[in-house]
Amino acid sequence: MKTLFDTTKLGQVTLKNRFFRAAVGEKTSDGQVNENILRLYKELAIGGAGTLITSFTLVDEAEKNFHMLAFYDDSFYEGHKALTSLAHEHGANIILQLVYVGSYVMGETTGMTILAPSAVENLNTKVLPQEITVKQIKVIQKKFSEAALRAKNADYDGVEIYAAHGFLLSQFMTPYYNRRTDLYGGSVENRARMSLETYSAIREAVGADFLVLIKINANDGFKDEVAFDDVLYLCDELTKLKIDAIEISGAFGKFPQESTSYFKKEAEQIADRSETKIILTGGNRYFEEMTDILNHTKIEYFGMARPLMKEPNLINQFKEKML
Ligand SMILES: Cc1cc2nc3c(=O)[nH]c(=O)nc-3n(C[C@H](O)[C@H](O)[C@H](O)COP(=O)(O)O)c2cc1C
Repeated sequence: MKTLFDTTKLGQVTLKNRFFRAAVGEKTSDGQVNENILRLYKELAIGGAGTLITSFTLVDEAEKNFHMLAFYDDSFYEGHKALTSLAHEHGANIILQLVYVGSYVMGETTGMTILAPSAVENLNTKVLPQEITVKQIKVIQKKFSEAALRAKNADYDGVEIYAAHGFLLSQFMTPYYNRRTDLYGGSVENRARMSLETYSAIREAVGADFLVLIKINANDGFKDEVAFDDVLYLCDELTKLKIDAIEISGAFGKFPQESTSYFKKEAEQIADRSETKIILTGGNRYFEEMTDILNHTKIEYFGMARPLMKEPNLINQFKEKML
């Protein structure tokens, strides 16, 4: 029988258990890792989660007004190095999550150029973006790859591409937001291109041995959402390109509260057809339920966000319960 505390290998990296702290956005005034962030990750690492995924981190200075963690140039290096050293010192792996926000932006946008696949008002934020050009697409892909290389140099164990929840990359997959008629819109092959090219650019920059993960939506939760067959296509292509793991999440902004492990069905189908490791995130609350999923599906890992916000020591408590 498999257990949630098995030691496993993801690529070249050893994971001491199957728990990931799913990313939680942390604001910082200037994009730098600050004392509060260091304190929080120390607690999380001591609390037992084997692998910590950071807050989404900006790859492009053009989005610096959003006051989230950033790594778009080397001025952020010292803070990130302190964060990776601290996580490793306390026994956790740490993965940097990379984002281009686009029109899913909270806060002040005056004077900024907000980009999206098409000029469609964002349903959540009411921001009307500009349609991104192919030249701008290439620039953003390069910025993802440069940030990933910086992450590798700062001793992260890997990076995760944030292609879920309504941020720029996930909008490309979603017919409602992507109305393009060029190579990046229309067919699923075209709508998936942004995520696939971004992954390939990162892989080329960091090499085969550095972990590259992606977080995607199994569904978007509104009209004209991504079709599940399209999600399967994206996962198949990512698998062919040898991505290390796919984190299955969903929704554009509102995370369900009512049920538990609520993307299990979709994650199970993806895991069934794929050699790529699958992380199930969203509503994971019960040790017994996760153990059951682990032993009856090909899902191998579990992401948790809100439970660890409430109780950073939860994974240690699970362990004590198991002994
Ligand atoms: C306050 C808050 C901030 C979040 N920030 C991020 C983020 O930066 N990146 C991300 O991928 N998901 C983010 N999420 C989503 C979580 O990673 C996770 O997918 C979601 O909360 C469902 O998992 P849970 O039921 O364990 O909370 C955030 C969720 C919350 C509640």
